[in-house]
Amino acid sequence: MIISGHAKLAGILGWPVSHSASPCLHGFWLDAYGVDGAFVPLPVHPDDLELVVRALPRMGFCGVNVTIPHKEAVLNLCDSLSETARAAGSVNTLTFSTDGSIYGDTTDGDGFMRNVQDQAGPVDSKGPVLVLGAGGAARSIVLALIRAGFQDVLIANRTPEKAEAIARDLGAGITVVEWDNHKRFFPSLSLLVNTTSLGMTGCPPLSLSLDTLSKQAVVCDIVYKPLETTFLATARRRGNRVVDGLGMLLHQACPGFRSWFGVMPTVDNVLRDHVIKSLNLV
Ligand code: ATR
Repeated sequence: MIISGHAKLAGILGWPVSHSASPCLHGFWLDAYGVDGAFVPLPVHPDDLELVVRALPRMGFCGVNVTIPHKEAVLNLCDSLSETARAAGSVNTLTFSTDGSIYGDTTDGDGFMRNVQDQAGPVDSKGPVLVLGAGGAARSIVLALIRAGFQDVLIANRTPEKAEAIARDLGAGITVVEWDNHKRFFPSLSLLVNTTSLGMTGCPPLSLSLDTLSKQAVVCDIVYKPLETTFLATARRRGNRVVDGLGMLLHQACPGFRSWFGVMPTVDNVLRDHVIKSLNLV
């Protein structure tokens, strides 16, 4: 590890942030590519978000990733946005210019689609897809699904107003369904995605009977701690193709690493195994 007085600085901003695997995976790449830099966890309470984001460029940071619960709130602090972040209404990657201006992008949707392709192969885009949750990650994932040609996207969220806002912002092809009644769509789904924090270590499980789910449906969780959530284990046992959340995390991290540290990193099994072993994810 090289950290000189000229080291480039980046980090992950969330509340809480101790669960995040980002320092581990960026640390692996910094070592692998011999970069003089550091990537640190930044636990920031929502009340302090603006103060901290405005201070980071002045402290010499090149940029940060953004996670729960800041992905939507941070949008208003950006001086400019990528077209995707503007369309999704969500930001997970900030890059700071030398003049202190803040550029926001979202790479969650692209990371999600790459991970599904890696772990499950092609998915039938004609069948309906049901997205559980309507937070910042869901916004980017829904946008990516629509742009990938999925014509029938259903969203169910505990707080329906947030799902309705996504449907309003992202346009045609999205239907909001009741959180307590979404199982009626299970027999026809081609894709079922959990974007809620349910099932994450320390959170309640996503308790859902999958008995009526189509055997053709690909089942994805964006939770990666534990690597195989109860939701995924249930789906795998009944024969559905499953996709864990770690690959999305690895893929979404690549553009940030390139813009802060100047190298486009590679996602492979060596990195994946390193993160799983280092963080004891299994
Ligand atoms: P992220 O950036 O990962 O999307 P987020 O924006 O904080 O995180 O969103 C978290 C999601 O998990 C939301 O959809 C949230 O539902 P609400 O909009 O109703 O808050 C969902 N979630 C969190 N805890 C939940 C619970 N106990 N039951 C159902 N959904 C839950």
